[in-house]
Amino acid sequence: MARPYYVTTPIYYVNDRPHIGHAYSTVAADVVSRYERLRGKPTYFLTGLDEHGLKIERRAKEEELAPQDFVDRMAAPFRLAWEELECAHDGFIRTTSAQHRENVQALWKLMDARGDIYLDDYEDWYCVGCESFKTEKELLEGNLCPIHQKPVERIKERSYFFRLSNYTKPLLDFYEAHPDFVQPEARFNEVRSFVKEGLRDLSISRTSFRWGVPVPEDPEHVVYVWLDALMNYVSALGGPAEEGEAPLYDEFWQSSEAIKHIVGKDILRFHAIYWPAFLMSAGIRLPTQIWAHGWLTVNGEKMSKSLGNFLPPGPLVEAFGADVLRYYFMREVGFGQDGDFSHRNLLNRYNGELANGLGNLMNRIVASIVKKNLEGRVPEVDFDALSDADRQLIDKANVAAQEAAKHFEALAFHRALDSTWELVSAANKYVDSTEPWKLAKQDDKTRLAEVCYTVLETLRWLSIMLFPVMPKKCNELRAQLGMPPLLPTEQVDLWPSAWGGLRPGTQTQTATPLFPRFDESQERSILERLGVEDTPTQKKAAAMKETKQSENDFIEFDDFLKVDLRVAVVKEAERVEKSKKLLKLIVDAGEGRPRQILAGISEHYAPEDLVGRRVVIVANLKPRKLMGLESQGMLLAASDDTGLSVLGVDKDVEPGSPAK
Ligand code: MSP
Repeated sequence: MARPYYVTTPIYYVNDRPHIGHAYSTVAADVVSRYERLRGKPTYFLTGLDEHGLKIERRAKEEELAPQDFVDRMAAPFRLAWEELECAHDGFIRTTSAQHRENVQALWKLMDARGDIYLDDYEDWYCVGCESFKTEKELLEGNLCPIHQKPVERIKERSYFFRLSNYTKPLLDFYEAHPDFVQPEARFNEVRSFVKEGLRDLSISRTSFRWGVPVPEDPEHVVYVWLDALMNYVSALGGPAEEGEAPLYDEFWQSSEAIKHIVGKDILRFHAIYWPAFLMSAGIRLPTQIWAHGWLTVNGEKMSKSLGNFLPPGPLVEAFGADVLRYYFMREVGFGQDGDFSHRNLLNRYNGELANGLGNLMNRIVASIVKKNLEGRVPEVDFDALSDADRQLIDKANVAAQEAAKHFEALAFHRALDSTWELVSAANKYVDSTEPWKLAKQDDKTRLAEVCYTVLETLRWLSIMLFPVMPKKCNELRAQLGMPPLLPTEQVDLWPSAWGGLRPGTQTQTATPLFPRFDESQERSILERLGVEDTPTQKKAAAMKETKQSENDFIEFDDFLKVDLRVAVVKEAERVEKSKKLLKLIVDAGEGRPRQILAGISEHYAPEDLVGRRVVIVANLKPRKLMGLESQGMLLAASDDTGLSVLGVDKDVEPGSPAK
């Protein structure tokens, strides 16, 4: 019996309109929920809006609106964005709802009854952008918040406190007992070290503004916006409640196999430390996993209004369609890592993978061979008579489906798509080598039928394996195969595992191509419409492409082989004292002993972002001393006018593997 599965996104602040950072989280959660639903699990997907707090109160004032009117107005673009992006959430929580307010107060009372809340005076720095207190140590020069780069405010007021300090040990014990609680692993290490330093009690109420949930029995105070916000995950289900009072809470919180919160790396601390501590205090079950994804830049730059590159998802959906954008989000960046949203890369992936890969496979067989030679019908074949080549493709399909499933379960979406694309490529190669167009001319109908069936059935498998990421396109693909749309059903596992689901005689349809190729002028006009200009580096690269290389510009292969390029795993990373640029890395290059490498990248990477990453190094460079430390190799990185990116590998190859 498949057990319930609960997946959530952060609830978004409504001070601004949705952008692709929000869309990235929401699409990821939608992909998870669609995958789990396909597997027959009762699934609940929650998203929503964080509508309280000082930041919202101030924005409403700027707009000369009452806070409630302001948040009501801002809710619509979020709902629309998720609809446009095919994000089929089951719940949409708004923290200004009465149900939520009551549940926040209920949580407060439970924590209070445990003796974990007390009143005291408080004075500290506060960042309104983060809605969070900051220690002096965290601030940048000039008292700036390290995330928002804006001045923090000094806050002094009477406040209720939560005895977070009491939870240092229980949290560490919990982490120990649940080694998958935070993903990716490197982020879990950060959380553990933070908690190990000892936790300070947390201020959980404010008196200097009104826009929030009143504290029970003391309405002068409003509940701290993060305590209010985190509670959304439980209040949306109607809890905490007595059994039977809130069926959603019973099913998806109390009896769930998985409660997964997808969050951005910037809000991990709130989810991995405060939230479990609040729940422990209230005696409520804890979530099973917090998944922290990385941040997206846009064409190499941090997204910000002042740079004018604040990217709403709507125009992109209009230009490419929801499924293509979803595919790009999930394929381009390893979930958990930072990445870049680049319009050019999107176009490249579209043409290279969707149009030339999957679209081409579809066109060659369904729209061409089957239509012209088999009256558009799925042919009948004798499975016992299949050739080795057919069997190899079937084996590939089995491996790809199992691998993709494993990766979807681990939220490694890019890997799930890698595995799926291995099948797409294998199927295209199979078509190249079996040459069905020749079989058609030779009038070898039996072999032609075998080849066409094998590809059509592969396409049927693909229509399921890609459904979590591209639901609409997959149903279009199925319609072309003469199959009904996928209808996930509880307790029915629809993931492909048995070959031969496609019935002989089924009438295929040739509608418009699934992924028509964009030619250069179409690409240019899309980019123009979206207001995207080439960066100076792109212009330079294009100019270089045009100037022909002369013979003298080439090197011999042997020259290249002199450079010992190897994959290494970063084990430790720290800043070099007194150096603005240098990081000291300890890497495992597969030599049985660590190597020390100094890299001038500290303006672009925080040390903790590198630990655990697979990088590429030049291993036979003469060691040299920098700032008194020896560097035993060089880390490879690419740079353009917008920044620098460390080179990596997209699979977990063994440390020490040569790169050539
Ligand atoms: N309201 C809080 C969350 C409360 S959850 C109980 C909040 N809201 S937010 O609107 O500021 O951010 C929501 C999410 O968007 C965060 O997970 C954040 O990491 C994510 N992103 C914001 N900008 C982003 C990118 N540029 N790239 C990827 N995600 C980013 O924090």
